[in-house]
Order: sequence, then structure tokens, then C-alpha cells
Amino acid sequence: MQHTELEALLHDMSLNEKIGQLFQISGQLLAEDSAAMGPMQDMGVTREDISLAGTVLGVYGAEKIKKIQKEYMEHHPHHIPLIFMLDVINGYRTVYPIPLAQGASFRPELSGACAKMAAREAAAAGLHVTFSPMTDLVRDARWGRVMESTGEDVWLNGRFAEAMTRGYQGDDLAGDETLAACVKHFAGYGAPDGGRDYNTVQLTERTFREYYLPAYQAAVDAGAALVMTSFNTVNDIPATVNKTLMRDILRGEMGFDGVLISDFGAIGETVAHGLSSDRADAARRALEAGVDIDMMSGVYPEKLEHLIREGSVKEELLDEAVLRILELKNKLGLFENPFKGADAEKENRVILCGENRALAQEAAERSFVLLKNDGDFLPLKRQETVAFIGPYADRKQMLGGWSFLGDPADTVTVKEAAETLAAGWNFTFAKGCPVLDPETRLVGFGKDSQESYTEQEREAMWKEACETARQADKVVLLLGEHYLQTGEATSRGVLELPEVQQKLLKEITSINPKTAVVLFNGRPLDLRLVRDNACAILEAWMPGTEGGPALIRTLTGACEPTGRLPMSFPYCVGQVPVHYDEFPTGRPYSGAEDTNRFLSKYLDIPNKPLYPFGYGLGYTTFSVSEVRLDREEMTREGTITASVTVKNTCSRTGTDVIQLYLHDVAASVVRPVKQLKGYQRVTLEPGEEKEVSFEIREEMLRFYTADGSWDSEPGSFEVMIGESSETENKKVFVLKK
Ligand code: BGC
Repeated sequence: MQHTELEALLHDMSLNEKIGQLFQISGQLLAEDSAAMGPMQDMGVTREDISLAGTVLGVYGAEKIKKIQKEYMEHHPHHIPLIFMLDVINGYRTVYPIPLAQGASFRPELSGACAKMAAREAAAAGLHVTFSPMTDLVRDARWGRVMESTGEDVWLNGRFAEAMTRGYQGDDLAGDETLAACVKHFAGYGAPDGGRDYNTVQLTERTFREYYLPAYQAAVDAGAALVMTSFNTVNDIPATVNKTLMRDILRGEMGFDGVLISDFGAIGETVAHGLSSDRADAARRALEAGVDIDMMSGVYPEKLEHLIREGSVKEELLDEAVLRILELKNKLGLFENPFKGADAEKENRVILCGENRALAQEAAERSFVLLKNDGDFLPLKRQETVAFIGPYADRKQMLGGWSFLGDPADTVTVKEAAETLAAGWNFTFAKGCPVLDPETRLVGFGKDSQESYTEQEREAMWKEACETARQADKVVLLLGEHYLQTGEATSRGVLELPEVQQKLLKEITSINPKTAVVLFNGRPLDLRLVRDNACAILEAWMPGTEGGPALIRTLTGACEPTGRLPMSFPYCVGQVPVHYDEFPTGRPYSGAEDTNRFLSKYLDIPNKPLYPFGYGLGYTTFSVSEVRLDREEMTREGTITASVTVKNTCSRTGTDVIQLYLHDVAASVVRPVKQLKGYQRVTLEPGEEKEVSFEIREEMLRFYTADGSWDSEPGSFEVMIGESSETENKKVFVLKK
């Protein structure tokens, strides 16, 4: 449709029809008959409101969507199609690793390919929009939603945000294999006080702009069609009704011109926040802030008509929102083809097809991070008898907390993968214990949060594990969080493994100290106990449908772990939030023995995390030479090339991720001790060496200066190049006036 046709359509719509476009309903509501309207009636939503709704949340499947679309359009006065939306986070049916694990791959292009694959499956199932990517910057491991982010680094998050957005959307939103991307949660949702979900966010203007906004901006620049508001307040005003944030910053400064959708029920929640005086006030404020779609609070259909008729809300504001939604429907090509993409035959064909499974496996392999490997414990050797022990040794649920459509039945477990991929190897398997402590119930998460075993069954499981460990040359313990311990509303105040698993770890390592631990988790954990007892540690996150094969291949050396931590793993919970790009203090503590007690440090724990951002080993070792600069001074227009020589010092081919960090030595505001500005992956044969060079440009030195401008300042800069954020391998150059 031409824009003028959309405008004509808008002007022909009744007030209620227009309000309907702003109302998002759930699949459940569509299915309900009038007798069962219960909860929605309480929210003031009528059957007519539902029949005029503009978008749907949570319905999937080609045939189902086609049927709903057809019936709905027939009854709609202007036959306007619905948009179907769903959280397709780390895959549709073929589930690839959780976003935090994708961050660990340091391969945005691979995440882009995964997003494309997810879009292909979901589009065939009739969907039009995914609520992804989540680009919230995360620095607090207590917050359960860190699993949905690609990590703590500002620059790296941006690269993933743009790659995922492009992956979902492709070149043509009307195409049969693309989804519109919705960036979330705008803004600052990843910084709740105390790591408690939905809690207050307090960020200075500079911190907010410099650290939190860039990843959203990267997705907007990549063309994301939608943005979702966040539940939290941003500097004392709930984001969802924050006019300055939404109109001035998001639309004005950041140039977003797509559809803004509230998070689930978030408009209504501004009453509980104590900002909106009642639901009518909430509706008015949200519309004035430019929120186009009300996801599931029912406030718009309930209140807008009255507000507009009494003149307290301008109808132009409504028209503006409706037009944006119609434009999105138009971009999706729904006026021409309301069934875009939906194809039951294709749905069956592409979902979980070999190609998609292979990509999911590759993504899993690339996301694993080797944290410890004493005495080349891994990879395992063919002649060794290895006992695989623990709740994840044969567990189907390795998909993570946001895989709505992922079916654990489709997952290949570690044990199943071993049976095919390591048929000639001498592996044994035992569970040892369930994931959770017997008394733990994840309240409100349904029945599968706890496996029910009798005391006798638990004892038998335990005994079998001990016996298996005793008879093996080596043990691989597969431990981790329950998948329902990460994701939305899963903040934790304790970052250790469940106690029963800690007990298993102690028992098994006392029986057989030759033990490696593979971890399945959605957040950085306190790994002190694991580090102290295990010879090797492999971080496997929630690896998805093909997690089993990816792990067996990695453990047996068919491939090498090349992931690097996208978030610092704290020494213990008392350290969080902890991130590598901290500010220097006036009393820096080097970590060395010091007689001066008045330094910035703890009495009882180190300042440094247990494992830092960017850290990860491989099955090979490398040496990195001193940094070389091609010149020591740089003009604003010029560049400096910083290089190192990387050498494989081992007898095996291997891959390293060489990272570039910069630090502004003195500036008009304090600058982080270092910031990631680039990385390069090198694969080298035994003994081979290679020069790795980075070009430093003036734009990489910019920040929000004391006067609020985005600029660089002349002076000294440190260039650091190494294998993790802890590198101190540096040289200094000067940016001239
Ligand atoms: C979450 C969003 C999600 C939405 C729809 C909310 O509870 O915060 O991230 O997209 O639900 O499922």
C-alpha cells in the first residue's frame, strides 16, 4: 500500500477500531468464549475490544494462524490483518545456545546466522514479529535475565544487537522467511538495584547514555522495526510512560521511527509504581509518551475511548500510533498477503531440519568456554575410562528458560550423543542427584521444577555415582542450575550451585580427584568450590537442542573450546556488580601485599573476579608479544596501527581471540580502566606465528565529555592487547590537538 492509502484507511476507521489497533491480545483470549471472559472482564476488556485488536501474542503454527487471520479479517470492519508476535529468543523449535552463551562465542556473525534460521522456522509457522534481541547491558549476576543478554561489554553487545536484528529481518520484512525484530527492554532494564527483577534503576545521565544506550542504538541503526519498553523506572519515572525517554531520546535523538510496544502489562503497572494515579492516567501518559501497543494491560481498550471523547487526550496522538502500526503491517506485506510465510508443509520441513540442527551444534561448540585445564586434562583420551556423572549427564532440558517452543524431547543429551559420536570410547554414566536440593521448590513455575524421588531412590543414585567414579580413570561431572533458575523473575541472592550438587562434587572428587566439571547455567556463578576441586572446568551454558553432540565433540577433542567470557564471573556474590571496565579510584589497590590499609579493597575477598571478561582457554597455548605501535602520536584525522605477534607454543593447532583494549589516561571525566574496542580470532598450526594488527582511529577514543559532547580529548592513551580483559600488555600514544 502507498502511504496515502494507509492514511485514507486511518481516516475511515472509527474511534474504537483505531483504539483496537493499539490493543494486543493473547492467544488465550482469542480462544476464550464469552462465558469465560473472567480475568479480561476484570480489566474492563469486552468481546468487541477483542474483535478489534491489532496484534496477537503467543499464538504459533501455520494452520492455526491462517485460520485466526482469515476469520478475524472477515469480521473486521476494514479487514485489517493481525500481526502475530512471539518471543523467539534462542531459536524457535531448533534451539541454539542462550544469548549469554552466544556472547561468549565472540562471533556476532554466527548469532546473525542463528537469528536467520530462527526467523525461517518461525515465519513458516506464521509468525511476524519476535521480541528479540534483548540488548540490555548486564553487570549483575544476581539478575536472572543476564542469560538473555550477550553480556557486560558495551561495544560487543552492540555488535550482537545489529547482527541479530539483521539476521531476523533480512532485506525484506515482507519476505516469507523474515521476522520483524523488537529491541528490548528500553531502557536500562539490566541495571536493577540489588539485581532484583523489575526493581528501580538509577543511572547517571552519562552512564545511561554512554554504557546503556549504545546497544539499543546499534539495533535501531540496523533497522529494528519495533522497540519494547522496560518495566523499570529510569531515574524515577517508569520507562513505559517516560515521555522524555521515549519521545526525545528514542525517537528524537536515536532516530527510531518504528512501533513502540509496552512490556507485558507495563502500562497498567505504572499505577503500582506510584506514578500514574489510576488506569486512565496510565493510558494517557503512555500514549503521550508515544507507546503504540499496549501489551496485555488492557488499559488502552478500557480507557482511551473515554479519555479521547472527554478531550483529555488528543485524537491525533492515537492517529499517530495507529498509523505506525498500519505502517508496520504494510512493511510486513500483510495487506497484500495476510498469511505471509505461513506454510504448514514448509513448517514441517524446515523445523529441526538437518541444516538447522548443524547450525545449532556449531553455535553451541563455539560458545563453550574452558576456564581451567590443569595438566591438559581435556580433551579426554580414547584409552581412558571416563565416568560421566551428574544431573546433566543425560538431561534433555538444556534449552534455557526462554525457549517457549523448544521441546526437550528434541534435544540430544550428552549420553545420547556419546552413544553415536563416541561409540568406541569407554564411557559410563550415572546421575548422582537431581538438579535441585530436595527442599527447593521454584514457586509459581509449575510442576517440573522438582523431580520427585524417594529417599531410597536418591541414595541408590548417589551410590551408583560413587561406584562409577571409583571404577573410572577420569570423571566428568555435569552440574548446573535448573533452567527455571534463570530468565525472567529469577533473581538469586546466592550464586553457588545447588547444595546437593556441591555435595556430589565434594564426594566424587574425594573418590576420584581426576575430575573435570562441565557447567550448565544461565548466569555467572561463584565457582570457588569447583575451581578448588576440579582439574578442568568447561562452561557450557544452556547449549540448546544440539548441546549433547557439541559437548561430546569438544570433550573428545574433535573440536576445541574457543569461547571467551562475556561477563565476569565474580569471586563471590559480595563482589557483584563486577565488570572489567570499572573506573580507577583515587586509592587503587594492585592486589599485591601492601602495608597501606587505606586502599580501595575488601578485607576478605580480592577485587578481581574469579574469571574475568574475555577470559577463556583452548587446548593450545599461545604467546603474545609486546605491543608495537607504528607511531607514537596521532592526529584526529590519522590512525595508529597497534600490533602483536601471536605464536602457537603447543603441539596442536589452536585458535585464540586476541583482544584490543584502550584507556584514556587523563580526561575531563574519569574513564574506565580499559574498554574493549576490537578483537581478532587467529588459528595457528603448532609453532606458527602471526602478526595481529588493529587500526586505532580517533572515533574509538570518543566519550561523553564534561561538557556533554560526544568527542575525544587530546592526551595520552594506553593500548592494551592480550588474551583477556586482564591484560596489562600495553603501550602509550598521544592524541594531538
Ligand atoms: C518480558 C518480555 C517478553 C514479554 C512477552 C515479558 O514478561 O519481560 O521480555 O517479551 O513478556 O512474552
